[in-house]
Amino acid sequence: MKMPVKALKKEMQMINVSGKTKLYGIVADPIGQVKAPEMMRKVFEQRGIDGVLMPMHVAPKDLSAFTQALRGIQNFGGMVVTVPHKTTIGVLCDEITAAARTVGAVNIVRRDPDGRLFGDILDGRGFVAGLRLHGIEPKGKKILLAGAGGAANAIAFALAEAGATQLAVYNRSADKVRAMFARLAPVYPQVELVLGTRDPRGYDLVVNATSLGMASADPLPLDANLLNAEQTVAEIIMAPALTPLLAAAQAKGCRIQYGAPMLASQIELMADFMGAK
Ligand code: ATR
Repeated sequence: MKMPVKALKKEMQMINVSGKTKLYGIVADPIGQVKAPEMMRKVFEQRGIDGVLMPMHVAPKDLSAFTQALRGIQNFGGMVVTVPHKTTIGVLCDEITAAARTVGAVNIVRRDPDGRLFGDILDGRGFVAGLRLHGIEPKGKKILLAGAGGAANAIAFALAEAGATQLAVYNRSADKVRAMFARLAPVYPQVELVLGTRDPRGYDLVVNATSLGMASADPLPLDANLLNAEQTVAEIIMAPALTPLLAAAQAKGCRIQYGAPMLASQIELMADFMGAK
C-alpha cells in the first residue's frame, strides 16, 4: 500500500530519520505480525537513541545472501531474528554466545563496526522474566512444553535454569525433543526430563512454544479438553493475542499468560545487546 506523501513526512518526522540515523532490523517470514518495530521505537525514544528498527521480509532461501550483505552496511547496528530463521542464522554469524550454541538458536544479532556479526538468544530469559512479571514462578513446578524449535529450546533452558523440577516436552517431531534433552541433561542434571504427549494433565504450567495458533486454521498444539482450573497456560504467540489454545484454556478456568510479555521483557535486553544504550 502506498502511503500519502503527507502521512509519510509525518511518520519520518516522528521517528526523526536523518543521514545519521542508525539502522536496525527484524528479519522474519512472514513479517506482518511482528511487533518489534513499534516496541523498539519506544525504547529508542526513552533512551534518546537516533535509530530505527525496520521490518525485513526475507525467505529462507535468501537468508545467506541477505546476511552477507549486512556486513557491508556500515550504519547497520543489528537485528532481531524470528520465525523461521532462528535455528539457521547461527552458522551465518561470525560468532555466537555459549547460550545460543547450547540452545541451537539465535534471536538477536549485533553488527560490530568491523562488520562482524555476533548472535545471542534472549527468548528464554525474556519468557521467564515475562512470567515473573505477572507473578508466575516456574521454580519447583512441573511444566509441559509444546514444541522443540528455536523458541522452545531457549525456553526449555530458561525454565530449567529457573528451577523447574520436571520438564515434559511434546513435539510433532520427537527426534528434536531427544536432541534437546541431550543438550539439557548435562547442564541441568537435577531437572527431570520427560518425553511429553498431547495430554496436559498433571502439570502446573503448560507452555505453547510451537507456531500453532498463528493461523486460525491451525490445530491446537495439545489436548485442551484435558486442562483444568488449577493450571496456568502460557503462549509465545503474540498475534492473535488470544490464541485458540488460550481461549480453550480460559474456558476451562485456567490462568492464562499471553505471548506479549515475553517480547516486552526482552526488548530492552535486545537493545542493550545491539549496543543501543
Ligand atoms: P521458532 O523459532 O518459533 O521456535 P521453529 O524453530 O521453526 O520456530 O519451530 C516451530 C515449532 O512449531 C516446532 O516445534 C514445530 O514442530 P516440528 O519440530 O515437528 O516441525 C512446530 N510446528 C510448526 N508447525 C506445526 C504443525 N503444523 N504441527 C505441529 N507442530 C508444528
